[in-house]
Amino acid sequence: MSTWAILAAAGSGERLGADRPKAFVALGELPLLATSMERLDESDWIDAIVVAAPRGWEEPSILLAEEIGAGKVSSVVAGGATRAESVRLALAEVPEEAVAVLVHDAARPLVDDEVVGRVLTPLAEGWDGVVPALPIADTVKRVDGDRVLETLDRDDLVAVQTPQAFVADTLRRAVGGGSDATDCAGLVEAAGGRIRWVEGDPRLLKVTTQADLERVAAWL
Ligand code: C5P
Repeated sequence: MSTWAILAAAGSGERLGADRPKAFVALGELPLLATSMERLDESDWIDAIVVAAPRGWEEPSILLAEEIGAGKVSSVVAGGATRAESVRLALAEVPEEAVAVLVHDAARPLVDDEVVGRVLTPLAEGWDGVVPALPIADTVKRVDGDRVLETLDRDDLVAVQTPQAFVADTLRRAVGGGSDATDCAGLVEAAGGRIRWVEGDPRLLKVTTQADLERVAAWL
């Protein structure tokens, strides 16, 4: 029984306006990628890690894993054009014997063992996948261009984060489906899988802008 983690780090991060991919923008003393890599490496839930690095940044990713002593990093692959493609390429490095796969965005540095446990535990109850999510504070409306069409019932909506946990075989089948979902659970849903949500964590904020980076740095 082994659990592998995929660290999706291949995004360009254009909205940060940096001269390098988001995973290599500084967060504290080290590249952003280091924090989630170190935290997953230290997790007792995780046996091994595959990193999907920005193309051309595979070697610096390996060196970073060595520098921080992340011995569970088993391989680093070049990511693809979309997040789903990056996950598919990384999943090809996960051995058949893996039973569960945790997929995490490197852009959410502050992953911790509690949320990893919360998403992995329900897999034993027969769920195909488990996502961390938070209630939505704002009112949400469906729009078409600049016209508001309707107000959605906020009680039926949650905002979904990572890490997301999956039965390995289910995720393998789902990533082959060619859906353009923006998270892995969306791929599994599209393939008919049953996904459960559990409580997320506001500190799993995804770094998109400079202001997000500053906020996460303050929480470090
Ligand atoms: O772009 P966004 O921040 O929403 O991406 C979420 C996560 O997916 C990031 O950690 C990013 O590095 C990763 N990603 C990827 N391959 C892509 C696009 C995004 O691994 N082609």
